[in-house]
Amino acid sequence: MSRSVRPVQAGTPAVAAVLALALTLTACDGGVRGTPGGSGLGGVRDPYFPKAGNGGYDVGHYGLTLSYDPGNHRLTGEAVITARATEDLSAFDLDLKGLDVRDVTVEGRPARFDRAGQELTIRPHDDLDKGETFSTTVRYSGTPQTITDPDGSEEGWLRTADGALALGEPTGSMAWFPGNDHPSDKASYDVTVTVPKGLQAVSNGELRSERTTGNRTTFTWHTAEPMATYVATLAVGHYDITRPALKSGLPAYVAVDPTQTEESRTVLAKIPEIMEWAETNFGPYPFSSTGAIVDRHDDAGYALETQNRPVFPGAPDTWTLVHELVHQWYGDSVTPKTWQDMWLSEGFATYAEWLWEEDHDGDTVQQTFDAVYDGDLDYFDDAEKAKAIWAFPPAKPSGAAHVSDRPVYERGAMVLHKIRQKVGDDAFYDIVQGWAAAHRHGNANTADFTAYVEKMAPDKDFDAIWSDWLYGEGKPAHR
Ligand code: TRP
Ligand code: ZN
Repeated sequence: MSRSVRPVQAGTPAVAAVLALALTLTACDGGVRGTPGGSGLGGVRDPYFPKAGNGGYDVGHYGLTLSYDPGNHRLTGEAVITARATEDLSAFDLDLKGLDVRDVTVEGRPARFDRAGQELTIRPHDDLDKGETFSTTVRYSGTPQTITDPDGSEEGWLRTADGALALGEPTGSMAWFPGNDHPSDKASYDVTVTVPKGLQAVSNGELRSERTTGNRTTFTWHTAEPMATYVATLAVGHYDITRPALKSGLPAYVAVDPTQTEESRTVLAKIPEIMEWAETNFGPYPFSSTGAIVDRHDDAGYALETQNRPVFPGAPDTWTLVHELVHQWYGDSVTPKTWQDMWLSEGFATYAEWLWEEDHDGDTVQQTFDAVYDGDLDYFDDAEKAKAIWAFPPAKPSGAAHVSDRPVYERGAMVLHKIRQKVGDDAFYDIVQGWAAAHRHGNANTADFTAYVEKMAPDKDFDAIWSDWLYGEGKPAHR
């Protein structure tokens, strides 16, 4: 079995540079009036969340300066959003839910704005030309909201026992900052957060500074690598901080609610080992730091692969820790283009759990695959859940309420195993590592994936796997 870390050619920055230049050159047509950029990416690009995200621009950087007081639940923020217009624009939308907007400027000049639902529509003083990079500043404040997803789970801004926790999947980032809240528009971030002295503020990326002035402390976090809004996080509260050492020298920052420290010690001690194992299997880690945030059990209803450091409600088990850490490769670095492509994230993270088992004297992936296929109750808690994985094909969730249902996870993992059965272990690891490298820090959809697999194994026929396992309704007739 070949599991060595192999460098694979990543991305094509040269092509991107040429495209950016071409866009700049076509943008000089002075007198043409721009048109509004449109709210939502529209039904074509994301049928599951048509209002999420906005057309007409591409964000490069979010600079957020926030202050939060858990005593009165009040958030005050200034968001400086640097973006490039992808068409001539007379107006554009940001997503923002709740909160009061005090003022907006574009390129330093006051801009008119209005609000309707989650859309903050901004009319810059001067039209924006296609290709132009522009900076928008939004000053806002208020009591951030908890959002209930189509599937009933809670996200956005969650009040915790001793502070708050911001979770963004699928559309929760708009509860705490204005932005282009869609996985297809990734950006770098600088997040500065001021909280009452004695509390900590933990976000993505690396901690650049921590300063106390009077009775308030300011934390500055920097995320250099592109990040989707749904994996941006902020945790405010009391945390025990550790910085475990990794052999690779990668910085780690682990924040644990003090009531969870005892319970989570053993499992969190596995982070270095899991990271090493994951790099062996999936290739070089895509980010500049790792870690975890552990809050209390009741603080959130699920774990989330927030970039650099996943969030867990209470001490995770080893599988959940493996799952969320492997999401950093598949989900955070290679991000689904739309919510329909979620299986590319959850299928890989689930497959990683099965692989971890196989590599640590547990069941082989084949045994797990068979157990899932047979509805074995050693794998599922009950027969209902065992059946639920056949409810829809992984590449076609039946609506927004179902993008995080079981078929996206287990059936997604089963697709990967069918590929492994077809090509053998050597080619399989080349494919999963190559996929992570080819779309590192980018976005990809299901068609990109099937094309990639076919390119990597041109002598094999994948048609039946795609038609039965990826796109086919119901339970495939044969394992
Ligand atoms: N992505 C999370 C995980 O499996 C699960 C999750 C939480 C989720 N909230 C969601 C998935 C909303 C889709 C939509 O690690
Ligand atoms: Zn997951």
